[in-house]
Amino acid sequence: MRYKGLIENPSVAYRHRKVLVTGGLGFIGSNVAVRLAEAGAQVTVVDSSVPGCGANSYNLAQAPGVRVIHADIRDSGALAGELLGVDFVFNLAGEISHVHSMQNPSRDADLNATAQLHFLEECSRQAPGRRIVYASTRQIYGVPQYLPVDEQHPVRPVDFNGVHKYAATVYHQLWTEMGRLDARILCLTNVYGPRMALNVPGQGFLGHFLRVGLLGETIRIFGDGRQLRDPVYVDDVVDAFLMAGAADNPPRRLWNVGGAAALPLATIAETIARVAGAPAPVYQPFPPEHKTIDIGSYSTDSSRIRKDLGWRPTIPFEEGIRRTVQYFGPELPHYLSRCAVMATRRS
Ligand SMILES: NC(=O)c1ccc[n+]([C@@H]2O[C@H](COP(=O)([O-])OP(=O)(O)OC[C@H]3O[C@@H](n4cnc5c(N)ncnc54)[C@H](O)[C@@H]3O)[C@@H](O)[C@H]2O)c1
Repeated sequence: MRYKGLIENPSVAYRHRKVLVTGGLGFIGSNVAVRLAEAGAQVTVVDSSVPGCGANSYNLAQAPGVRVIHADIRDSGALAGELLGVDFVFNLAGEISHVHSMQNPSRDADLNATAQLHFLEECSRQAPGRRIVYASTRQIYGVPQYLPVDEQHPVRPVDFNGVHKYAATVYHQLWTEMGRLDARILCLTNVYGPRMALNVPGQGFLGHFLRVGLLGETIRIFGDGRQLRDPVYVDDVVDAFLMAGAADNPPRRLWNVGGAAALPLATIAETIARVAGAPAPVYQPFPPEHKTIDIGSYSTDSSRIRKDLGWRPTIPFEEGIRRTVQYFGPELPHYLSRCAVMATRRS
């Protein structure tokens, strides 16, 4: 019954517990940190504000109880005291850009694979057996061989980001099989919502569409707009993280997490433009640098996580966009003022 109760209200599991959130100045990590703080957890964020990623200190401005350590997850000295006695780790540090990973593969390997390996070694030493929930990605599957994509789908990433995120996924699984950590992994589709990095180039089409729409400009769609995506609202994703962390002895440890509906890019762009009060979108050919890493249509089969943890997406896309536009209305200057740096150097 305890297990069932936690799944129905996973926040209960975190009250007065010590929780570390890596990448917590970024989009999804800050939403996780804020929710955990609201649930009564003692939250510490570790984030090194990697240039080219979505770190924004304003993301935690309304969460005064959250401690922030400005450090790299590879910095075992900075992490030393933090991992001792930690109850849960939410591991969201990483670089999400597929485009950046093709421009500088070794930078992506450093950030998404090597950094994770160092961090997991340190976790297993200082916090053996601890629960850790890792943010993996749909990109590990590459071009879908069938839709919707379930967890049995072959792993064939088409970009370095997918390769390195998959390496980190397997690191988490290996440490768990060795009995040194208790990892759970979420393979996320495209996430959107409050605290997205709107002005960082190469971070995906949703942040770009939203920025253009919120500025009242015309969204440009690459291709014919018929490609499918299943965007998932960030509050639903936070629920998935909290449920995955709260589950005692789940039957499986890797789950795909997708949105409520598979929608053509044209519908996604039109919805954003309409809700934001921007002009109707227009179409243009794919730029060559996007063609090699394009995966065509994608949609998620989220039935495994529904069966194992009771999670399902609850926010329809249009409602999620309404909430997102409402959030960014007064907050937009905090998301446009930073100088967005396209990091091509080693971090
Ligand atoms: N946003 C999405 O649609 C999406 C989809 C699939 C998977 N993911 C995964 O979810 C995670 C979070 O994504 P996001 O959209 O919040 O990205 P984000 O760029 O907004 O946040 C990532 C944060 O990690 C930090 N970081 C990166 N490397 C670090 C390191 N070595 N040490 C300390 N901090 C470091 C960055 O500074 C940044 O603040 C990523 O791992 C990403 O791969 C995101």
